[in-house]
Amino acid sequence: MQKIKMPVPLVEMDGDEMTRIIWDMIKQDLILPYIDLNTEYYDLGLKYRDETNDQVTYDAANAIKKYGVGVKCATITPNAQRVEEYGLKEMYKSPNGTIRAILDGTVFRAPIVVDGISPSVKTWKKPITIARHAYGDVYRNTEYRVPANTKFEMIFTTDGKETRLPVFEYEGGGVAQGMYNTDKSISSFARSCFNYAIDTRQDLWFATKDTISKIYDHTFKDIFQEIFDEEYKEKFDELGIEYFYTLIDDAVARVIRSEGGYIWACKNYDGDVMSDMVATAFGSLAMMTSVLVSPDGNYEYEAAHGTVTRHYYKHLDGEETSTNSMATIFAWSGALRKRGEMDQNDALVKFADALDKASIRTIEEGVMTKDLALLWEKGNKKVVNTHGFIKEVATRLDQELKEIM
Ligand SMILES: NC(=O)c1ccc[n+]([C@@H]2O[C@H](COP(=O)([O-])OP(=O)(O)OC[C@H]3O[C@@H](n4cnc5c(N)ncnc54)[C@H](O)[C@@H]3O)[C@@H](O)[C@H]2O)c1
Repeated sequence: MQKIKMPVPLVEMDGDEMTRIIWDMIKQDLILPYIDLNTEYYDLGLKYRDETNDQVTYDAANAIKKYGVGVKCATITPNAQRVEEYGLKEMYKSPNGTIRAILDGTVFRAPIVVDGISPSVKTWKKPITIARHAYGDVYRNTEYRVPANTKFEMIFTTDGKETRLPVFEYEGGGVAQGMYNTDKSISSFARSCFNYAIDTRQDLWFATKDTISKIYDHTFKDIFQEIFDEEYKEKFDELGIEYFYTLIDDAVARVIRSEGGYIWACKNYDGDVMSDMVATAFGSLAMMTSVLVSPDGNYEYEAAHGTVTRHYYKHLDGEETSTNSMATIFAWSGALRKRGEMDQNDALVKFADALDKASIRTIEEGVMTKDLALLWEKGNKKVVNTHGFIKEVATRLDQELKEIM
């Protein structure tokens, strides 16, 4: 087979620890034999971030804006212990946070579903994608431990004019918090969700507590509805997909009774909580994919899990590891597919589909890493090590590509 050409590059962001090891294996065994890989490479490994005073992270994010598509390996977010371990000049911010701030996006997380590992919720047959609004609300609050005999008021100063709103009068002590969001951020969250629903041809659900929060949550509901009616309704009708709004408590009940197969857009706190519930119920963090979609149509693909530190230290000690590379493989296939779609490069899209299919087939044929072996429900299984799994996928990828190319 002739190698597939890629005239336009995608942004490749290398990372840390065990996922950096997997990154190279995936490239060597699953990508480079088939594709004339064209990437603009940024090393987001902690050592190089430190050497460049984190400039490399900013450069990578700006490159995604230029080329439209990026694929990122998991990276260490330094804490005090990492500052010591790597002798860092400072405690750099989370690379994902920096990239998100530059691209202004929404993160969509979806599980990879395989036959033989059932979700804990028996009705779920298809993946549920969580879209979490990652701006404001309780994550940017101002809190106060209130002493007794205190009057709580909110003051807004608009062009020098004050508006005062009474909140509560405390006799004993208590707690208080102020939080905010902006029309701009809510609108870009809405557009990212509608665009992603169109892209993946799935229904979009959104829920807030607008009956109780008649201004704050209701504004989310209104902005979503206005943008949907004005900009997206026609396209949704054309594709036969639906935008569905309900109350958050009703949404939770419906999600549990559903078959899956839709995007669930959540406010910041709801998304934080519900994405952990959905990930756990679908089985394993190692099977969660993640994509950051910006409102102006840039995409950054990655695995939802971290750098798997425990396995890395075993690897450094020369011990065998059995790290699951599925989510990182899907990050690569996601980015290659998107590159292909943007450039009308059909061969690249077909390759990405074949890579997904080969990876899922590997597990469905009973070949898996240790983390999945515990969840496997279908008879015989072969538990393989980190590289063993990728080689098993490569064998099946060869077969898939022979059939279609
Ligand atoms: N997106 C990112 O870049 C990202 C996300 C989370 C954590 N991190 C970083 O990763 C490092 C480790 O963090 P952590 O231990 O909290 O998270 P982690 O996701 O690396 O590991 C959490 C747990 O899940 C298991 N696990 C995760 N992925 C696995 C896989 N592919 N195969 C098998 N088991 C897997 C691990 O063994 C561990 O028990 C930290 O330095 C953190 O800053 C990065």
